[in-house]
Amino acid sequence: MTYPVNLSVKPEVSAHFDEATNTITYIVKDPDSDHCAIIDSVMDIDYAAGRITYAHADALIAEVQERGLTLDWIIETHVHADHLSAAPYIQQKLGGKIGVGEKILVVQETFGKVFNEGTEFQRDGSQFDALFKDGDTYMIGTMQAFAMYTPGHTPACMVHVIGDAAFAGDTLFMPDGGSARADFPGGDAGVLYDSIQKVLSLPDEMRLFMCHDYGPNDRAIAWETTVAEQKADNIHVGGGKTREEFIKFRTERDAQLAMPKLIIPSLQVNMRAGEVPKDKDGNPMLKVPINTI
Ligand SMILES: [Fe+2]
Repeated sequence: MTYPVNLSVKPEVSAHFDEATNTITYIVKDPDSDHCAIIDSVMDIDYAAGRITYAHADALIAEVQERGLTLDWIIETHVHADHLSAAPYIQQKLGGKIGVGEKILVVQETFGKVFNEGTEFQRDGSQFDALFKDGDTYMIGTMQAFAMYTPGHTPACMVHVIGDAAFAGDTLFMPDGGSARADFPGGDAGVLYDSIQKVLSLPDEMRLFMCHDYGPNDRAIAWETTVAEQKADNIHVGGGKTREEFIKFRTERDAQLAMPKLIIPSLQVNMRAGEVPKDKDGNPMLKVPINTI
């Protein structure tokens, strides 16, 4: 696959860090028009109380409105397991199309079973406005963006490349954070390694924006790096680490990790493009499958 890389386009990137989930949401603006995209938004949940609020999404909406921008796209790099997407809430206020990787169908099939969803839960991706295949392009104002298929963390992961900026989703973390886990259903450490190599084959000077940062070793939260820095310094894949070394390390590490706190609500909401499921009477309601995940 040859991707339409174009480093001469330099989008303006505004980052919003969500402290509750360590997620970074991006507003990506075309320098030559007032059009933008939002990547990986967050809906706030107090899971213990069953309460959903929108402070993070409202801040994004306020910024888009204050800058007088038109929102073309609301992109999900994958079905997140650690936070809920606010895509439908943002779409209602600002418009734009919600896009995700076409392998969402695999994720919907897997978790449709886990959550024992009925036939009203469509497993065809129809909850989204666009399903991207490897190499698909789309426009944000005058900028051409493309999606790069990068499975391994989940089957539906995509890295989105917009000019000289790539949004890594959960393939890589900052160089001192390494890589994302590969032990969720449909995850695979070897496949993740191959996907990371694809990201690292982008030009050295490509800006790379992370979806998460946990500030390892007490450093300040950070989210921007480059392909060159990742190739040289990434603690899991940098300096020419082999596929075998990575698989061994990743598998051993993943066996030690606890489930993300919000995995159960996140999957139910995010496999529906950010809509909270409803019970038979039409009330928003979440399930907790026991001893299944
Ligand atoms: Fe993730």
